Amino acid sequence: MKSYLIVANWKQNGDSSLCAEYLKIKKTDHAIVVCPPYHLLSELKLPHGYFLGAQNVSPFPNGSYTGEIGAEMLKKANVSYCIVGHSERRELFKETVEHFASKIKLLLSFSITPIICVGESIADYKLEKGNSVVRSQLTSLLSTLDPICAPIIVAYEPIWSIGTGLIPTSEYIISITDMIKSCMVLFRNKNIIHDKILYGGSVNEDTISTTLSIREIQGVLVGGASLKIESFNKLIVSYTSRDKRSF
Ligand code: 13P
Repeated sequence: MKSYLIVANWKQNGDSSLCAEYLKIKKTDHAIVVCPPYHLLSELKLPHGYFLGAQNVSPFPNGSYTGEIGAEMLKKANVSYCIVGHSERRELFKETVEHFASKIKLLLSFSITPIICVGESIADYKLEKGNSVVRSQLTSLLSTLDPICAPIIVAYEPIWSIGTGLIPTSEYIISITDMIKSCMVLFRNKNIIHDKILYGGSVNEDTISTTLSIREIQGVLVGGASLKIESFNKLIVSYTSRDKRSF
């Protein structure tokens, strides 16, 4: 069975009762990652074989950085994946390529897989600049990294799709994923290899069929629909049923 990656990003939401709801998460052979806020990392109990993720990490190693949580701490909290470069970090917290590059280096040094988010704004989309914006986000970041021998995950999240209910057409998503793949070829000499390309933005039980129909997309990054276990379970079931149909 092909293994897809289904990632829940709770953002600044959730509490002990959502952790308790997640005890009802569906069993699947696909890889499931749940990224709660930091303070719930130790409370969230996931089935064996599922993974804890973090939504953010400090760009600095442990030291005097008030308010930050470092990669080493995440490792000790059993975190296996970490989101980097989310558009909310870029826009609201003014984080830059330099921040993201240093986060990625630190994560990889603790064997935590970065999920690198890229995506264009509505203005760039309307100007048909999506492809060039995403390419530049990715190449400017990867070119700052030293050679690394670890796969990364790239999540394509058009900003105009996040929380809006709007989803790009399959053709558009394929054009972006093709570009991401060709872009990654340029970094093979640095041993930067992409493991999977995910799609994120308004993924829910009504829109999942678009993502499922695209062979180039190997999973999803889910915001709002991960805040109710019934909705998140429906996404897991969609991927499981897809496998049953294709085998
Ligand atoms: P929504 O699924 O709520 O659109 O959020 C997507 C997202 O930003 C996941 O990182």
